[in-house]
Amino acid sequence: MKLEGTVALVTGGARRLGRALTLGLAEAGCDLFIHYGTSAEAARRTAGEVRALGRRASTAAADLTDPAQIDRLFEAFDASFGRLDILVNSAASFERTPFDETTVADWDAVQALNLRAPFLMAQRAARRMRAVAGRPGSRGELQAPGVILNMSDMAGVAAWRGYTAHGVSKAGLVHLTATTARELGPDVRVNVIVPGPILPPAGEMADDPGWRQKGLRVPLERTGDAAHVAHAAVFLAENDYVTGATIHVDGGEHLLPGGRG
Ligand SMILES: NC(=O)c1ccc[n+]([C@@H]2O[C@H](COP(=O)([O-])OP(=O)(O)OC[C@H]3O[C@@H](n4cnc5c(N)ncnc54)[C@H](OP(=O)(O)O)[C@@H]3O)[C@@H](O)[C@H]2O)c1
Repeated sequence: MKLEGTVALVTGGARRLGRALTLGLAEAGCDLFIHYGTSAEAARRTAGEVRALGRRASTAAADLTDPAQIDRLFEAFDASFGRLDILVNSAASFERTPFDETTVADWDAVQALNLRAPFLMAQRAARRMRAVAGRPGSRGELQAPGVILNMSDMAGVAAWRGYTAHGVSKAGLVHLTATTARELGPDVRVNVIVPGPILPPAGEMADDPGWRQKGLRVPLERTGDAAHVAHAAVFLAENDYVTGATIHVDGGEHLLPGGRG
């Protein structure tokens, strides 16, 4: 699918990896609806970067743990853009919750953001995508299938100690990708990216010896770059015959038993 003139909605798209996904899609030709949680200033800046690339950009805030706010987010989207081609579910938490100390509230908060929100976003996005799929577009061409991209995590593939709630939510996202790819074909393609050591978690710097050491443990012996993930997202958005796929962008980390965790 040619991305020129398509419309993408990226959750958590204001900063860090979400910003790289936003800008990667804008460089490939998409107009962008940038969702953010609390980073209003970063969202404004990222929208400016999208416009500097010659694309349209709008921003809107929503707490994705609240289904009513997800509905309001789509109302804002509908008011900004007529149609949706690509949804990227990137917003997430990364909480260490030691097994014995994890409360019901901890568990529910992680699942609500990392798993329920991508499901609700996908459901609402797919309704819009299916309404136009296969119909003639404004230029008479047939509308390409919609695209949903989920962002999982190695913790959802390997068993990391201290991350049970997070790992289960991200493993659920891999399965959600498979089930929605089956449910929504041929109108919507759904794929998942599993990034490895790309950006250090909040509080760690890219040049911290501990972070560099994490990179040295993977087969390619280095940490990655947000652009590597954006490149995979553009590939998955463009390639019309890929659905239900998992792409590891991790320097080969998934080949290690138990990952690096
Ligand atoms: N960074 C990596 O190397 C790496 C590795 C593996 C997997 N991943 C996955 O890739 C994705 C992006 O990674 P990242 O490091 O950029 O993530 P991040 O910085 O931890 O979080 C992404 C965004 O999620 C948003 N968010 C958090 N709570 C929210 C809520 N309740 N409602 C709405 N939005 C909320 C935040 O938006 P605001 O800032 O606007 O509040 C934040 O900017 C995530 O799904 C992550 O699990 C990343």
